[in-house]
Amino acid sequence: MSETKTFNIQTFGCQMNERDSETIAGMLEEMGYLPTDDRDSANVAVINTCSVREHADERFFGTLGQLKKIHETRDDFVVCLCGCMMQQQPVIDRIKTKFPWVDLIFGTHNIEAFPRLLEKVTREKERQIEILPDGGAIVEGLPSHRLYRHKAFVNIMFGCNNFCTYCIVPYTRGRERSRRPQDILREIEMLACDGVCEVTLLGQNVNSYRSEDGTSFAQLLQEIAKVEGIERIRFMTSHPKDLSEELIEVYRDVDKVCGNIHLPVQSGSDRILKAMNRRYDAARYLSLIEKLRRARPGITISTDIIVGFPGETEEDFEDTLALCREVKYDSAFTFIYSVRQGTPAAGYKEQIPEEIKHRRFDRLVEVINACSLARNRQYIGRVECVMVDGADKNGGGMLGGRTDGFKQVHFPASGGEKAGDFVDVKITEAKTFSLLGERI
Ligand code: SAH
Ligand code: SF4
Ligand code: F3S
Repeated sequence: MSETKTFNIQTFGCQMNERDSETIAGMLEEMGYLPTDDRDSANVAVINTCSVREHADERFFGTLGQLKKIHETRDDFVVCLCGCMMQQQPVIDRIKTKFPWVDLIFGTHNIEAFPRLLEKVTREKERQIEILPDGGAIVEGLPSHRLYRHKAFVNIMFGCNNFCTYCIVPYTRGRERSRRPQDILREIEMLACDGVCEVTLLGQNVNSYRSEDGTSFAQLLQEIAKVEGIERIRFMTSHPKDLSEELIEVYRDVDKVCGNIHLPVQSGSDRILKAMNRRYDAARYLSLIEKLRRARPGITISTDIIVGFPGETEEDFEDTLALCREVKYDSAFTFIYSVRQGTPAAGYKEQIPEEIKHRRFDRLVEVINACSLARNRQYIGRVECVMVDGADKNGGGMLGGRTDGFKQVHFPASGGEKAGDFVDVKITEAKTFSLLGERI
């Protein structure tokens, strides 16, 4: 009897990469490999990389350094690299010269090639590098090892056409391509049959979803809401410039669409928004927030913000703080501007010194955290319907789950609850990033 081979996948970056890793895991399982949590003893180690900020690059090359040592001592250790970093020629060049022992590299546009390439590596013991410059036709029907049984990510579109001047994603993920609604619906119906009750639709800019038959994002949501068994529909990310009246009406009319939106603002200064090529101004953004709140009272709102974009003055930064105070976000991902070679902003003069960026970042986080805590305190005493995700990592008999508005809630298990159950929880305490409560 032959020994079972194992694999381990390390995933960096966003939900797109997490979803791709589920596909890669599915392909490996079809090839007879079993998953293991121990990367260093696995037969196949896959690193799915992210390129969005410099910090991510550094972490990646650090990880590669660790893998070199294992690769030197074991013949049956195959190292595979994929994800957004692999779509950048300078990265490939660096790997070829500094890490020539890497066995297999593929990109974001040819995940389906992975089994064939791995087969070649293991059979012919020959390094395989295959990167495509842009995405071709969408490949449907790939296998998948889903991370959860009760909730799932579903790609609805790939790529991005927006070219925000700081961002590498359009270069690593290619142009926008939307999946056909019937393919998306079939996938969701199958997920529902398997017991999934929450889907999160993924795309760099879901608002610009448009299928070849003309189906809009709002129409797609309405169709998905008809799928029996699907109780909650989430999506990310929404770009303010493409957020339609039709979508706002869906928030008003379709209960299954959760009362939560992630709407990255990036900056509160019109001058900086223009330099970022975001194609909206602060007034337009604020009017969208107002319309969303009118359409769906209690909707929770989160955002992404970059501080220290080239040329950002103290006044521009104050505009960002003022916008945050006005919106009173439920939460925000805050980033220090990171130079990405190949993007327009990398060449802008007036790069902001690190020290100033860090100081602004700290001030922003303080404002955001104060808003989050104030918002969370409003929940004390309320009863929220929570979808159970499972036991808390730090144990203590506590469970974790999410409200419709995506608030994380922790509460003591009363026995018998399982992931995917919907339970009523009375909120008793508010923290900055979560709520505490008890079942009623
Ligand atoms: N498509 C999504 C998310 C893209 S990446 C959107 O448009 O919102 C996620 C976040 O990373 C971005 O919203 C942005 O805030 C941040 N980001 C992207 N490039 C960056 C850079 N060069 N430096 C710092 N933050 C960056
Ligand atoms: Fe990047 Fe802008 Fe596209 Fe988002 S919309 S992925 S920030 S270019
Ligand atoms: Fe990173 Fe690529 Fe996502 S650059 S943020 S993994 S699309």
